Amino acid sequence: MSGSKINVAKQAVDFLENKLSEKMIIGIGTGTTVNFFIEQLKTLKHRFDGAVSSSDRSSAILQDAGIKVYELNGVNEIAYYVDGADEVSKDYSLIKGGGGAHTREKIVASASEHFICIVDKSKIVNDLGAFPLPIEVIPESRSLVSRKILSLGGMPTYRQGFTTDQGNQIIDVTGLDLHNSLDMEYKINGIAGVVDNGIFAINKPKTVLISE
Ligand code: 5RP
Repeated sequence: MSGSKINVAKQAVDFLENKLSEKMIIGIGTGTTVNFFIEQLKTLKHRFDGAVSSSDRSSAILQDAGIKVYELNGVNEIAYYVDGADEVSKDYSLIKGGGGAHTREKIVASASEHFICIVDKSKIVNDLGAFPLPIEVIPESRSLVSRKILSLGGMPTYRQGFTTDQGNQIIDVTGLDLHNSLDMEYKINGIAGVVDNGIFAINKPKTVLISE
């Protein structure tokens, strides 16, 4: 498994290598695949300006690699955003958030010109939803959101002992019908107390790199 993640991380570096420029900012996702990507990107760190990160974990790894980390509020343009996923459908809709970082990941993805998703082939699915859908919630609203999810046909599980970088909680949901993922992304985000859910149908990747 880690071999496949290393391979796709290399594919992403190859994809980017001749596109880098001195003032370029790159958006960086979160997860083990992205960690391999950062490791590879380190060798090219003098060929671009720096990164905007989607999590405190990735920021620390970027800083250790000697890559400058900018706040999203401090930059005007992010040329590329590179991130993994938990599931990728044929139309490039995603489920993300296995690491609980999907809210900031979605923000950085939407701020970027070109989202490159990097996955090993086990993440490619015909239908989204076998992987439990993460929903970040304001802590006080967790039970209310869970009841609303039940009424949509989903089965919520509280991710105990986990707090997001924003100080919120995560509910992981199975059983929802995600055939119209765009509609479900909007519907869940319309529930009061939801910060964001892990469906990426509004902000789909432009490129998906896949390794064996
Ligand atoms: C984190 C994510 C990750 O991209 C997703 O969980 C995939 O992780 P990994 O690369 O470790 O398999 O969405 O919130």
